[in-house]
Amino acid sequence: MKKSIIIGATSGIGWALAKRLSAAGYTVGITGRRLPLLEQLQAQLANPVFIKAMDISQDSARRDLQALIDAMQGVDLIVISAGTGAIDPGLPWEKEKQIIETNVLGFTAMANVAYHHFLQQGSGHLLGISSIAAIRGGAIPAYNASKAFVSNYLQGLRYLAAKSKHNILLTDVQPGFVDTPMAQGDGLFWVASAEKAAAQIVLAIKKKKKQVYISKRWRLIAWILKILPDVIYHKL
Ligand SMILES: NC(=O)c1ccc[n+]([C@@H]2O[C@H](COP(=O)([O-])OP(=O)(O)OC[C@H]3O[C@@H](n4cnc5c(N)ncnc54)[C@H](OP(=O)(O)O)[C@@H]3O)[C@@H](O)[C@H]2O)c1
Repeated sequence: MKKSIIIGATSGIGWALAKRLSAAGYTVGITGRRLPLLEQLQAQLANPVFIKAMDISQDSARRDLQALIDAMQGVDLIVISAGTGAIDPGLPWEKEKQIIETNVLGFTAMANVAYHHFLQQGSGHLLGISSIAAIRGGAIPAYNASKAFVSNYLQGLRYLAAKSKHNILLTDVQPGFVDTPMAQGDGLFWVASAEKAAAQIVLAIKKKKKQVYISKRWRLIAWILKILPDVIYHKL
């Protein structure tokens, strides 16, 4: 039986992914700050479930993740889905800081523990949920920049993994819009359900993909974002 940890499983994509991986036969470890939701999800899953309430923006999170890995006696797959970000044109510092502390510092702390675990174990698969926003700066500057960090960091780990003698896989998932509490505001389009996103992520895991857009049609938007001149982009 394969074992996986989903960091940020109390809601949205992480919740749907935990359900799908469990249904596929995985023993799952689920994390998030909201313990009652972890317990609720645990009660819904048939296969063994380990839970750990933790805040990835706190120093204690690295110890918490290691404790969860130890309790599960090692894992094959670690998914970092936890993330935050909402539009606020006033750019209040507290919100900017929270995005960076969660999506950059928290993500890196989790990726660091995961990578070291896989190095020690000799193999493993780390999957990070970035965003299409990684491609270009936008209306939530700290969010887009944080996701660019996530994608670039995963690329760096892939570079190091290739130089190591270990079989460590890295997958960068870049969703467009997914119907979760995070996707707010007007002008949403091509919105995938969390279940569809989870199904496509499981496929990416099976196929050992380096990078995927969710849903697949977002490849087109990615291409447009890369080539669109500022004069048009700034009017969107
Ligand atoms: N929905 C979209 O349209 C979309 C598009 C592109 C990328 N994404 C990315 O997809 C990932 C999942 O987001 P979602 O759409 O599923 O949003 P969501 O439903 O709001 O879920 C976010 C998850 O992150 C966890 N989380 C947030 N801050 C945390 C912290 N400090 N410590 C631990 N856990 C934390 C939350 O758990 P607790 O609150 O219980 O801590 C929750 O489980 C995020 O990285 C997001 O940036 C989403």
